[in-house]
Amino acid sequence: MQPDSRIFVAGHRGLVGSAIVRELQGTGYRAIITRSRAELDLGDPSAVESFFAMERPEFVFLAAAKVGGILANNTYPADFIRDNLAIQSNVIEASRLSGVKRLLFLGSSCIYPKLCPQPIKEEYLLTGPLEPTNRPYAIAKIAGIEMCWSYNRQYDTRYLAAMPTNLYGPNDNFDLNSSHVLPALIRKTAEAKTRGADEVVVWGTGTPRRELLYSDDLAQACCFLMNLDEARFNSLLSDEQPPLINIGTGEDVTIRELAETVARVIGFSGNLTFDPTKPDGTPRKLMDVSRLHGLGWRHTVDLEDGIERTWEAVRDRLSLESGNGHPSS
Ligand SMILES: NC(=O)c1ccc[n+]([C@@H]2O[C@H](COP(=O)([O-])OP(=O)(O)OC[C@H]3O[C@@H](n4cnc5c(N)ncnc54)[C@H](OP(=O)(O)O)[C@@H]3O)[C@@H](O)[C@H]2O)c1
Repeated sequence: MQPDSRIFVAGHRGLVGSAIVRELQGTGYRAIITRSRAELDLGDPSAVESFFAMERPEFVFLAAAKVGGILANNTYPADFIRDNLAIQSNVIEASRLSGVKRLLFLGSSCIYPKLCPQPIKEEYLLTGPLEPTNRPYAIAKIAGIEMCWSYNRQYDTRYLAAMPTNLYGPNDNFDLNSSHVLPALIRKTAEAKTRGADEVVVWGTGTPRRELLYSDDLAQACCFLMNLDEARFNSLLSDEQPPLINIGTGEDVTIRELAETVARVIGFSGNLTFDPTKPDGTPRKLMDVSRLHGLGWRHTVDLEDGIERTWEAVRDRLSLESGNGHPSS
């Protein structure tokens, strides 16, 4: 990508898309193209095609998706598979028609089989049954990878699929009804501190292990991949295997260690109590990132630093909300 390359970031208001825009702006790219959902519904094929024909982006980061937790996935499975298939089909096809040079399709680690060996290598794709709760979402994402691969083979396009591990950062979702584990811990701990409570109750036993990547690190990795020289980019696009690369830290921590780090950062000195009657989820989920490390990229923000940055960015907002009686448990 050159400083004046036309770069479309789809989903620029989301956790991932906003971090990619920040990274691009911070590194001097001047022709970043964005559209809100109200301006361009990526589920509408003719609108997407017209937009690409008019704007002619050269590079596309496809970070728009219908995303949600277990409850949303269970309640709206049809919406998850339909919307995601539509968004990615429309963007991939319009990219082909308008001659996009490189496209990065964002998926997630839920595409891998539920019980696959750890750490998870790219080649474990389609080697076993998926986690049932988000299968429609995961199958849509797998279809996206397959589309990238098929388009590369049939149309000689250069589309790559990146599978990030669990992400966190300032633009995360801190709603306790639908948030992931880290933002939920940050919110609960902040609220306990504000109330002067002496205890935070953490779901499960505290023993499951999770890998977490700071959103700015992910954005950096995405731009790194889009900027790979021809030889290294081509090494990821072969006829023999899907054009797939994991993005993560390659390190994981227990939920207990995570809760302790959050408490340290926020300055909560009360007790952490683990509630084993609540579900633990998968015991371990760690990406094998040797493919990414082999290309020369490593994360730079360690977990405590990332939690500090996130806390700095959201502390006023969360303190204000908890003072207004928002949910706390
Ligand atoms: N968050 C994570 O931990 C994580 C981990 C691994 C992978 N990922 C992947 O990264 C990608 C982005 O995730 P995220 O966490 O950034 O999600 P997010 O915060 O929910 O952002 C998704 C974005 O897509 C936009 N969008 C959805 N439907 C659209 C439509 N029909 N037309 C136009 N825009 C639409 C949303 O617009 P509105 O703002 O208008 O709704 C939003 O800006 C997903 O593919 C996800 O699987 C995320």
